Amino acid sequence: MSKVTVVGAGNVGATVANVLVTSQIADEVVLIDIKEGVSEGKAMDINQAANILKLKTRLIGVTNDYEKTNNSDVVVITSGVPRKPGMTREELIGVNAKIVKSVTDNVLAHSPNAVIVCVANPMDTMTYLIHKTTNLPKNRIIGMGGALDSARFKYFLSLALNANFNEVEGMVIGGHGDKTMIPLTRYAAYRGIPASTLIPAEQLATVAADTMVGGATLTKLLGTSAWYAPGAASASVVAAVLGDTKAMIPCSALLEGEYGESDLCIGVPCILGRNGIEKIVELDLNEEEKALFKASAAAVHTTNAALKEAL
Ligand code: LAC
Repeated sequence: MSKVTVVGAGNVGATVANVLVTSQIADEVVLIDIKEGVSEGKAMDINQAANILKLKTRLIGVTNDYEKTNNSDVVVITSGVPRKPGMTREELIGVNAKIVKSVTDNVLAHSPNAVIVCVANPMDTMTYLIHKTTNLPKNRIIGMGGALDSARFKYFLSLALNANFNEVEGMVIGGHGDKTMIPLTRYAAYRGIPASTLIPAEQLATVAADTMVGGATLTKLLGTSAWYAPGAASASVVAAVLGDTKAMIPCSALLEGEYGESDLCIGVPCILGRNGIEKIVELDLNEEEKALFKASAAAVHTTNAALKEAL
């Protein structure tokens, strides 16, 4: 029996729950929110859809009742406010840091052995906050940003290549910020063929630029931050953990010397399994990529420094 708790029944949290149910990733899912009725309502709606689709995952929605989350294997934290058009993810730190801290305390009181998947923004800093305020082993805290950013990269890449998007490969490392993410164009490929040999360098640069502002573009179109891909990306991380798949997914991980950095969480390729982040894969970055990573890490450190005032 696998049990997943999703904290926050907003657009992203409800989508995580929906994907966990429709893709039959977990046996039992608890959707919890502080707002009276919202998680119950969304769970009821998803369950009625699941009945039509003849699915068997058990989903319950609860208001603030952490008892119901007892002994979850994985907890996904989507709590906090999303960004509005024109806002950066970093601007959310003041509100979201307090929320994420209190949610994490509640979650761990009931599921001391859970793997935590952090979705709340600013995602790298919230992942770091969870490390700093708990004594959990570092493998059990995963920030999901790179999974989402890599999906956006592959999407724009498939459009540029006019290719089936299941046949393109692409990875985004670095921070989950409009200016900090690093789409690794050198590793981008179509059926193993380097994308750099298939499209002009300027077009590949446009793909990278579109990826970096992918979230902001959606926020402008939707009036709030995106949810379908963020929800699916978070569920894909849960699936890798519960299924012990050893999938390589770029995630925000605590670095202790890898990539020449330490004391921060930032996107790097991770092997995910039942123990969470089972391995950080160290890519052989070239000088330009190393410089981008260093600048990205410096920006994430700056946001982390604002945590002190935010808490
Ligand atoms: C995004 C938010 C979830 O990138 O950070 O859409």
